[in-house]
Amino acid sequence: MSSNIVWHEASITKTERRTQNKHHSFILWFTGLSASGKSSVANAFARTLFERGNQAFVLDGDNVRHGLNNDLGFDEVSRKENIRRIGEVSKLFVESGQIVLTAFISPYRQDRQVVRQLVEEGEFLEVYVKCSVETCEQRDPKGLYKKARNAEIANFTGISAPYEEPEHPEFILDTERYSIEDCVEQLTSFLTDKGYI
Ligand SMILES: Nc1ncnc2c1ncn2[C@@H]1O[C@H](COP(=O)(O)OP(=O)(O)OP(=O)(O)O)[C@@H](O)[C@H]1O
Ligand SMILES: [Mg+2]
Repeated sequence: MSSNIVWHEASITKTERRTQNKHHSFILWFTGLSASGKSSVANAFARTLFERGNQAFVLDGDNVRHGLNNDLGFDEVSRKENIRRIGEVSKLFVESGQIVLTAFISPYRQDRQVVRQLVEEGEFLEVYVKCSVETCEQRDPKGLYKKARNAEIANFTGISAPYEEPEHPEFILDTERYSIEDCVEQLTSFLTDKGYI
């Protein structure tokens, strides 16, 4: 980084924004296999937060890859860079007082750890969207598992690339057992109990 780049302090602090919003700002980092339900639950929960009058925004893997990260592929180095950039963007959202819900497979523990360390204590909540690869493959809403099985897609998480389960996630959503609505309720209770919303 150039030594000529000097940080300029913001005129409105994160604390002031939180006070005005009347809720904490933080990252809910949904991680899990493709078709585990990250986007479905994140969007359903964002809707609930919005209707409660909370500031919430979803950053979704596919959407970010259409724009900001459209220069990145799916090899390990690209996935790392993908997550790093998303982490930095998420941090800006936290700074702006919002609840940011991220829906990325983010298969590597190390990469998720990088984001955790990017923000302050209590600003990164890892939500493990748990669902067996068998069920994900049965759901296959985008037909990606089928393509991965036919070797039409390389480096597909759960099939031809690893998924490293979170060791100490702040929250686990079992989407095999619970419906999207149940998951939204569980998240609402969890965050209310924590005093975050
Ligand atoms: N309990 C549940 N929770 C979430 N999704 C469910 C559940 N039961 C069934 N589904 C279905 O499973 C699919 C999950 O797809 P979704 O796109 O949300 O997964 P994803 O984790 O975002 O995958 P990707 O990483 O490919 O974007 C949807 O078709 C959804 O309707
Ligand atoms: Mg998704």
